Amino acid sequence: MIEMIKKEIKETIEKQFDIDSIVIEEPKKGVADLAIPLFAYAKLWKKSPMQVYDQFSSIVANHSAVENVEFINGFLNIYLERQNLSQKILNEILEKKENYGYQNIGHEEPVVMDYSSPNIAKSFGIGHLRSTMIGNALNNIYTKCGYKTVSVNHLGDWGTQFGKMIVAYQKWGNEAQVRENPITELQKLYVRFHDEEQNDPTLEKQARYVFSRLEANDEKYIELWKWFKEESLREFMEMYDLLGVTFDSYDGESFYNDKMEAVVEELEEKGLLRIDEGATIVDLGQDLPPALIKKSDGATLYITRDIAAIFYRQKTYKANKFLYIVGNEQQLHFKQLKAVTDLMGYNFDVVHANFGLVMIDGKKMSTRGGKFKRLEDVLRKAIDESRKAITEKNPDLKNQDMVAKAVGVGAIIYNDLKNEKHLNVDFNLENMLKFEGQTGPYLQYSSVRIESILKENTLDITNVDPSFYKEDHYFEIIKQLANFPHVILKAMEENAPNLVARYIMGLAQGFNSFYGKQRINVENEQHKNANLWFIQMIQVVINEGLRLLGIQPLKEM
Ligand code: ARG
Repeated sequence: MIEMIKKEIKETIEKQFDIDSIVIEEPKKGVADLAIPLFAYAKLWKKSPMQVYDQFSSIVANHSAVENVEFINGFLNIYLERQNLSQKILNEILEKKENYGYQNIGHEEPVVMDYSSPNIAKSFGIGHLRSTMIGNALNNIYTKCGYKTVSVNHLGDWGTQFGKMIVAYQKWGNEAQVRENPITELQKLYVRFHDEEQNDPTLEKQARYVFSRLEANDEKYIELWKWFKEESLREFMEMYDLLGVTFDSYDGESFYNDKMEAVVEELEEKGLLRIDEGATIVDLGQDLPPALIKKSDGATLYITRDIAAIFYRQKTYKANKFLYIVGNEQQLHFKQLKAVTDLMGYNFDVVHANFGLVMIDGKKMSTRGGKFKRLEDVLRKAIDESRKAITEKNPDLKNQDMVAKAVGVGAIIYNDLKNEKHLNVDFNLENMLKFEGQTGPYLQYSSVRIESILKENTLDITNVDPSFYKEDHYFEIIKQLANFPHVILKAMEENAPNLVARYIMGLAQGFNSFYGKQRINVENEQHKNANLWFIQMIQVVINEGLRLLGIQPLKEM
């Protein structure tokens, strides 16, 4: 609502004076609600700031939401009509509840979100976990902005590595062991293949042959591959279950096996293919290395499947916008993908929402050979640790399992989403599980605190004195509440869930300092109801913000 007021004031002044660069700032606490710096216009028009003020002030003061204007230090300070505005904002949240912040910017336009996308028969990496959490948050944020999202888990279930895996399994594999511990065992076989390959160069040939049989749909190999895939998926599903994440589609790379030839033909027809030392490539000009479409033995590649996938998605979901939530290291790949489809004459909106590494003690965290064998164990450890903390604080708590899971997983998610996604994140379980500081548990705890106040005091919305909202310690937070839709929009535009993460942190901190200053359960009934209404709306927004990030809000902890 405040964004709207700013926009209206800006537009009225600009129209009147035929200018286009009025800036309206939101000064720090206590100064004014809004302020327009006047220096630039004073300079431009060779007047004093005071003279500019005289020209602008009556226009601004005329706005229905403005109570007063004032000239201070070259600024036109604006004081809003706080009481009315507060009521409007709180009413809007009361009416819309968790739908507050929804805005139909997208008009149901489809957007395909490609995230998580782990590789079959390999461990679910820490990068895949980041992709899952960022992707899930962006999926929620886009939906909240009126887009029709399609979430796709582009499983890495095709490629020459499956030739190797199958050869290794046939040579050294043991069925029962793979059933027992699919990913660990398959990964061992894969490592062994690479070790033995050093001494036996024929292995590589055999693997190539097997993959070519796979690409030709040879049933014998397909069967084994299918089995690897099922077993791996079973393990991945446990992770998704812990994280509370689902997908609209699990069409992975193999799904495009019979859809790549058409792509190659189209590239051929458009004269874009070139044979280079037996391999089929597309030249991408000066700035990018060529895209390798087929190896000399005819095998397709990762990018071949991504090109087929983008066309399939365009047709199936009627989408023109494609978001790939994948690590920084694949920047080149997505540039090439965009360049190839551009050359083919399409103008897809390809967005690589890239992210950085996960670091432990300044070193890149890896599941291979690291402290943790599997990422699932990391999640379980977080859950166990939070269970300890919770039972210590609140031994009588019901639903301990549910709460421990929500807090443990939420802590990991918040730690990941609080910083800009392209930066590296620090992974320190002890810090992220703390109930103070910039943590998930702190946010959940703030909401629980409000919950317990609301349990003891019932709000009577018909008996509120809104004049209290004029006081700074209320109004500062009300302005924050009003900003929620705007923050969501920005997070969508910039593919930046951290904006939502930071925002709810600010709100929770705001609440906690308010609560330190202001008693809620005051004598005056009308004041008390004003308090209850106010904190209940804070809770609605914190909870909805948490939900957008994929963190479960709690009633007790
Ligand atoms: N499976 C790939 C990897 O682990 C990520 C796939 C990302 N999505 C895509 N459409 N390329 O590196």
